[in-house]
Amino acid sequence: MTSPSKNNFSLKAYNTFGIEAYVAHFSIFSSVVEAIAVCKAHIAPLLILGGGSNILLTKNITGTVALNNITGINITEESQHNLIVKVGAGYNWHKFVGYCMQQGYYGLENLALIPGTVGAAPIQNIGAYGVEVSNLIYKVEFINQTTNNLEVLYNGDCKFAYRDSIFKTELKNKTIITHVYFMLSKKQTINKSYESLNNYFEAHNIKNPQPLQVFDAVIAIRNSKLPNPAELGNAGSFFKNPEISMEAFNVLKYKFNNVVAFNTKKNTMKLAAGWLIEQCGFKGYRNGDAGCYQKQALVLVNYGSATGQEIYNLSEKIINAVTDKFNVLLEREVNIL
Ligand code: FAD
Ligand code: EPU
Repeated sequence: MTSPSKNNFSLKAYNTFGIEAYVAHFSIFSSVVEAIAVCKAHIAPLLILGGGSNILLTKNITGTVALNNITGINITEESQHNLIVKVGAGYNWHKFVGYCMQQGYYGLENLALIPGTVGAAPIQNIGAYGVEVSNLIYKVEFINQTTNNLEVLYNGDCKFAYRDSIFKTELKNKTIITHVYFMLSKKQTINKSYESLNNYFEAHNIKNPQPLQVFDAVIAIRNSKLPNPAELGNAGSFFKNPEISMEAFNVLKYKFNNVVAFNTKKNTMKLAAGWLIEQCGFKGYRNGDAGCYQKQALVLVNYGSATGQEIYNLSEKIINAVTDKFNVLLEREVNIL
C-alpha cells in the first residue's frame, strides 16, 4: 500500500535548498507495485521526488508529489572479476557507494558523498572527480507514465552526456525510475586524473592509492569546498560548466588570458563556470538570504528564509553578468519547479 496521500503538505524538509513550498497532494511509494498504483491514481501533474537535492521550488505545486522509497540491493550476475548490482531507486546514493566499498565492488568511489537517491543518478548522469555514473550503469528500469508499464533502457539507449540523459530530455517527467543496474568490478582500478584529487594524493604523499583512499579523499575534498545542505541550503552546482568550440575559446583566451578551461574528448573546451562567476564579482555575494557561496561560486545558497524566486532571480542576475562580460551563456543544472 502507498502511504495515504497528505494534502497541502510542506516540502521544506524535502529539498536541500530548504525552501518553503507546499504541494496539493503528497504520497510515498516503496515498491514497483505501489509506484504503478501512484501512476494510475494520482491527481496530475505528477512529480517524482528523491532526495530533493537538485531542485529549486519557486512556487507551490498543484497536483501530486510522490516520494520514491524503493530500496534493496541484489546481485543479479557475477563472474570472477565483475558483477551486476540491482539497486532500488530510493536507496541513498552515498550509502550505496559506501556499501560497495565495504563489499569490495569498485568503480563508484570517485562519486562518494553526492547527495540524493540512486534513481536520480542516471537522470542528470551525476559526475564528479573524473567519473560519470554512465560509465557504470548497465540498464535503467522505469515505469512509463503514459502506459503504466515497466520498461528497461540499456546504457547505450539512455543518451548519456555531460549532466544529461534521455530522462532529462525526451522522457522528462514521463518516467518513474524504479531500479538501476550497475556494472561493477572486483578488480581495483583507480582514477585519479582529476587535478584536485591528484593534488590531494601528492600533498598526502600517497603514491598508489587504494579505492578506499580515493573514497576518503573525495569526501575530504568535497567537505572542504561544498556546503553541507544540513547547515546551509543548496543544490550543489547551480549551473553547468559551459562547453564551447575551440574557435570561441581562442577568442575568449585572447581577451582573458587566465580563463580556466579543460579539454573535452570532443575537441571542445569546458569552461569553469565557477571562475566566470567569480570574475563577475559574485563569489560571496549575498542579497537578503539568497547568496553565492564564499568557497565555490558555482553554488547558490539559502542563508535561511530565501524564497525559491529570490534564488532564481540571483541566478538570472549571474547569467546576465556572465553573458555581458564573457559572451558565454550559462545553463542551469538545477531543475526549476
Ligand atoms: P531530486 O532532486 O529529488 O530530483 C531531481 C530530478 O529528478 C527531479 O526533476 C525529479 O522529478 C527527478 N527524479 C528524481 N527521482 C526520480 C525517479 N525515481 N524517477 C523519475 N524522476 C525522478 N550532482 C552531480 O552530478 N555531481 C556532484 O558532484 C554533485 N554534488 C552535489 C553536492 C551538493 C552539496 C548537492 C546539494 C547536490 C549535488 N549534486 C551533484 C546534485 C544532486 O545531488 C544530484 O543531481 C542527485 O542525483 C539528485 O538526486 P535526488 O534524489 O536528490 O533528486
Ligand atoms: N573555480 C574558480 N572559482 C570558484 C570555483 C571554481 O575559479 O569559485 C575554478 C577553479 O580553478 C577550479 C575549477 O574552477 O580549479 C573547477 O572547480 P571544481 O574542481 O570545484 O569543479 P567545478 O567545475 O566547479 C564540477 C561539478 C561538480 C563536481 C566537481 C568535481 C559541474 C557543473 N559541477 O564543479 O558537480 O563535484 O566538478 O568533479 O560540472 C554538481 O553537479 O552539483 C556538482 C557539485
